[in-house]
Amino acid sequence: MKILVVGGGGREHAIIMKLAESPKVDKLYCAPGNGGISRYAECFDVKATDIEGQVALAQRLAVDMVVVAPDDPLVLGLVDALNAKGIKAFGPDSKAAVIEGSKAFSKELMKKYGIPTAAYETFTDSESAVAYLKGQNTYPAVIKADGLALGKGVIIAQNEEEAVTAVREMIDGGKFGKSGAKVVIEEFLTGPEVSVLSFTDGNIVVPMISSMDHKRALDNDEGLNTGGMGTVAPNPCYTKALADECMEKIFLPTINAMKAEGRTFKGCLYFGLMMTPKGPKVIEYNCRFGDPETQVVLPLLDGDLCEIFEAVADGRLADVEIKWKNESCACVVMASGGYPLSYPKGIEMSGFDDKGQVEGAFVHHAGTKYENGKFFTSGGRVIGVTATGAALPEALDRAYAAVKKISFEGAHYRTDIGKRALAALEQK
Ligand code: AMP
Ligand code: GLY
Repeated sequence: MKILVVGGGGREHAIIMKLAESPKVDKLYCAPGNGGISRYAECFDVKATDIEGQVALAQRLAVDMVVVAPDDPLVLGLVDALNAKGIKAFGPDSKAAVIEGSKAFSKELMKKYGIPTAAYETFTDSESAVAYLKGQNTYPAVIKADGLALGKGVIIAQNEEEAVTAVREMIDGGKFGKSGAKVVIEEFLTGPEVSVLSFTDGNIVVPMISSMDHKRALDNDEGLNTGGMGTVAPNPCYTKALADECMEKIFLPTINAMKAEGRTFKGCLYFGLMMTPKGPKVIEYNCRFGDPETQVVLPLLDGDLCEIFEAVADGRLADVEIKWKNESCACVVMASGGYPLSYPKGIEMSGFDDKGQVEGAFVHHAGTKYENGKFFTSGGRVIGVTATGAALPEALDRAYAAVKKISFEGAHYRTDIGKRALAALEQK
């Protein structure tokens, strides 16, 4: 098969590396791709959000399947456009992708179908939102832009002033543009967070191995929210009993609800969960693989990703057996100095090859460019250094050993990825 993967970050690199293992795959393409991906797949300079350009590329390359990885082309309807031309695609159509594209939609869905989530209200004018905040008077309060905002549209306000500022900036100030014209204000939940990605063809849902993201920029979960600074899998806070409860109360009810709404979801549905004292609740849905969760989940897949993608797209996921390796995986993101605010680009990198130079370690490129035999930084999150191991301590040791060999000016990474997970393991 010839496969085109749409996107160009660490997640897409991880998808491509796993697809490259499949005996069914002859040729891999990626658009736009990046420096590291270009070693595995032929890359084309077409933006992920260029719907017409991507469809034209898929036609020109006569691919057998397109894998659409990022949220924005899914929400914009790339899968709809590909299917309309008779091209097989992995990913939800735009009607289903709204589960991530609009928080107001997903909250309404959960309320209607009794899926556990934080209590909330939706607002489109700031005066009513402020009146609601004053009436509630409980902090922290959680304020979310309705639409896509690069993972930055969630504000945890510690007091009234912060909350009112966040609401006014989003609704009146145009922060996040159209995405922030509507806001969701919700109850603050506590408990360990767990990411569960799942394969679903709309009929059945098969959870992948669980993982834990580290969203804050600095050690000890301090600093600004980022797209994700590192991950571990499996997540030790996610016990078998919790997994069973999530299947019964969250995963199945969600895919059934989407089907009942005429929005059958096919693709990877990501459940961002919090294990609260009152049981697991949904923090967010994503209509796609998480980044950097994918980097630690897919290396543990014991099977053929191409076969799974085809089965999902064809609506026959029940025919495929999906197994996981009994190992652990850790990913440490190396970011540009200054990320998630402004940062320089084009800095030469040194000290690595794709293998990571440490047993069991490898590098997923996120924001790199390859020119004249050298790698240069080209984004905020530059690379994810990933390693597998028999258990979590080994995976972490290997990942950090590989990180220490790689350098570029201003490089920033967290030194405590997996620390909370290790503490949870010790409690067991
Ligand atoms: P999201 O982009 O929706 O995943 O939110 C980003 C982060 O904000 C989550 O990973 C949580 O850590 C935090 N968060 C979101 N909603 C809530 C909530 N209702 N209560 C507590 N923390 C939350
Ligand atoms: N790592 C969280 C996300 O992909 O949204």
